[in-house]
Amino acid sequence: MDDRGLTELAALGEIAGEIVHELRNALLVISASTYLAQKNPVDCAPHLQKIERHTRTAQGVVDGMLALARGDAVTTERTSLADILSAARAAVGGQANFVDEIDGCIVQANPTLLSRVFRCLFENAAQATAPRVPTIRTRAELGERAVITISDDGPGVPASIRDRLFEPLVTARVGGTGLGLALARRIVIAHHGTIELLESHPGATFRITLPS
Ligand SMILES: Nc1ncnc2c1ncn2[C@@H]1O[C@H](COP(=O)(O)OP(=O)(O)O)[C@@H](O)[C@H]1O
Ligand SMILES: [Mg+2]
Repeated sequence: MDDRGLTELAALGEIAGEIVHELRNALLVISASTYLAQKNPVDCAPHLQKIERHTRTAQGVVDGMLALARGDAVTTERTSLADILSAARAAVGGQANFVDEIDGCIVQANPTLLSRVFRCLFENAAQATAPRVPTIRTRAELGERAVITISDDGPGVPASIRDRLFEPLVTARVGGTGLGLALARRIVIAHHGTIELLESHPGATFRITLPS
């Protein structure tokens, strides 16, 4: 297998890993809710609703990730950026302080996939800045497209990898895989969007554009 084949395989491995993680969460909720519904059949409606919701989430994860792996267009809906950011943030926990200027920003997106992009950016900022906790600013401007900038006050992206930052397996972090930003770019492109690193001092600033 050539280098390109290997990196594609690695990217698919990353996608599979994500599917497993999301599915495990959904299955945990489904099995807990099933247990509760069986224990109290008379009052089981809320549990059944939860089961239905998480079954749909699980289906969405599988469909979205497989479409991405095949290079198909992803299914999108009008989604508030605030919702996407809070999903991404929940995954990063207290590892960063967040400041948003995104009032009323709506994008045309697959929420599960797009929140993964922001999660990747937030995780990278937190990892690069540790042990200090970074402040991450997210700004959105709405025009013909949504232009979203994500800036942190960490050390910035090492000059040695800036040119190849979005290629698979490019990493400057001990224990890094170099797949986070490669997958992020794949997701953004599947949304007919763009993602780039801007010149900024200090810290790192990424710009994403998306159909609005
Ligand atoms: N906000 C950031 N600040 C500093 N460096 C960053 C930032 N985001 C990404 N990087 C650099 O880019 C590299 C690639 O990131 P990524 O593709 O997510 O892979 P990984 O996190 O597995 O290394 C990181 O190892 C890090 O060196
Ligand atoms: Mg990363």
